[in-house]
Amino acid sequence: MCGIVGYIGGKRAVDFLLDGLTKLEYRGYDSAGVAVNCGDNIFIEKSVGRLDSLKEKLKNRLPAGTVGIGHTRWATHGRPSDLNAHPHTDCHGNFVVVHNGIIENFMPLKEELIARGHKFISETDTEVVAHLLEEVYTGDFVSAVREVLNKIEGSYSLVFMSKMHPDVLLCAKQENPLVVGLGKGENFIASDIPAIISYTRDTFILNDGEIAIVKKDSVQVINRQGGLVDKKIFHVSWNAEAAEKGGYEHFMLKEINEQPKAVRDTMSKRIAKDGASIILDELNWDKNFLDGINKIYIVACGTAYHAGLVGKFYIEKLVRKLVEVDLASEYRYRDPIVDDKTLVIVISQSGETSDTLAALKESKRLGAKTLAITNVVGSSIAREAENVIHTWAGPEIAVASTKAYTTQLILMFMLALYMAQTAETISGDELKRLINLLKKIPAQISETLSDVEPIKTFARQYGFNEDVFYIGRSLDYCVALEGALKLKEISYIHAEAYASGELKHGTLALIVEGVPVIALATQKSVYDKTLSNIKEVKARDAIVIGIAAAGDTELEKYLDHVIFVPETDELLIPLLTVVPLQLLAYYAAITRGCDVDKPRNLAKSVTVE
Ligand code: AGP
Repeated sequence: MCGIVGYIGGKRAVDFLLDGLTKLEYRGYDSAGVAVNCGDNIFIEKSVGRLDSLKEKLKNRLPAGTVGIGHTRWATHGRPSDLNAHPHTDCHGNFVVVHNGIIENFMPLKEELIARGHKFISETDTEVVAHLLEEVYTGDFVSAVREVLNKIEGSYSLVFMSKMHPDVLLCAKQENPLVVGLGKGENFIASDIPAIISYTRDTFILNDGEIAIVKKDSVQVINRQGGLVDKKIFHVSWNAEAAEKGGYEHFMLKEINEQPKAVRDTMSKRIAKDGASIILDELNWDKNFLDGINKIYIVACGTAYHAGLVGKFYIEKLVRKLVEVDLASEYRYRDPIVDDKTLVIVISQSGETSDTLAALKESKRLGAKTLAITNVVGSSIAREAENVIHTWAGPEIAVASTKAYTTQLILMFMLALYMAQTAETISGDELKRLINLLKKIPAQISETLSDVEPIKTFARQYGFNEDVFYIGRSLDYCVALEGALKLKEISYIHAEAYASGELKHGTLALIVEGVPVIALATQKSVYDKTLSNIKEVKARDAIVIGIAAAGDTELEKYLDHVIFVPETDELLIPLLTVVPLQLLAYYAAITRGCDVDKPRNLAKSVTVE
């Protein structure tokens, strides 16, 4: 949730710190701060609110020092305030620390430190780390940090700076991302790659338990026992522009329009040249392995969870294996029934979602086989799972997940096909037919994106309603859930998705004249039932906007407006029907003047429980 940056080299550190924090703004935050080692003192400035407030405070007084750290905070312990903003220091200002994550045992440690005379000025868990360092330091910065790490429990990425050691920054990584950017005569630290890619593409991605000793001409990585770690350089292939908006007004609109390419990238190299099979080099599963699996869980949060609901349909339909889909925050506390015959698939765009990571670890502890589907190479979830398949969607900056969702669907579909071909539950002809339709999806998404005017009109007409309902059956219901979440999280409209068949069990009481209802009706297997549900809401004078497959001539007889998506197999049509729902949410948010890329209270990566 928080953003961390650090610089050590020959240039003015604060320039990189502010630029890096700006690139990390999307992560969601409520305050910010920087600290720069200026030789005889450490300059610190912090501010609650946006980065601009911090820049205002720094005007005409930028520190000249060439070593510094910076931070954007998303409050977990202690409300957003100047005092609670990072960096935090010990009693004498000799040590400065920035932190992402949660120190779970901070309260008893803080009480002991106060009893021993330490003075705290913030309500944060982080400040405890600076005072612990003050206590254990006897001249060796690295061993003092290692000793502090042995005292604290929880998840953290930490960067330390010391007045007594102006030639080094120390970083410690545990369950929260931290990378070191390798420059020439300078080195960079960040919690996320977009902060550094315009400075260097060569990085060390730190693993849990590793400590980086970062000087301007060298970077050493050690483990908690002090042993040297042989780190491989990870070259970042993204270009800086990819993390920018590319001409769109918002990252979200850019990423919605990137979906044809993102989905094509997800498929690339994973369909055999003859179009007759799926290739997943990341997996070496054979029929025996799959025959040994008697239960599959798909575990995720938010949009990734909605992708899991679609994945369930794919696997049960094509592989005929039982699949249960679970919210990670529920699964991990439910004492799930898991053993070595269970396959647990976790889905996570960021690969850092705390609940999903914990669910993955719990699944491994219980003996399950694990597979992660994630978008971020080197993320905590990617490195924790036994197997990982990346969606290759490119950086997703907007808080609202769009291309991550469609690439997750593609990957779940290809995984189901791969499993079906391996378990021999699909004929060669059917496999070829579905692969053929799959290859058409990127162009069909482009086609769906080409006509946004009706959606803009709906958004303008209904964007000020306070309640919107989404209804659908089967896979349409899964997509309705995702459409409702999109509308809620960026336009703040109260939107709910219901299985159409459930309306008469209660929700119909809410359907009154003028209430907008988005009705998805693409699943042929339940079309007639869906149509009768649509008639139910029409009979109560709701305003119904239909989402239908091209060629459907029935729906228009009953509906005020119908948005058509290209015709394809009903298993694949969610990849198309979600697009108008993403756009509807986007334009409704614009109509309401909302902060589309950084919606209130939300962050891009939820790295705390
Ligand atoms: C989706 O639009 C939301 N931003 C949120 O629900 C997100 O999908 C959820 O936090 C899971 O994130 P992850 O995919 O990075 O694990």
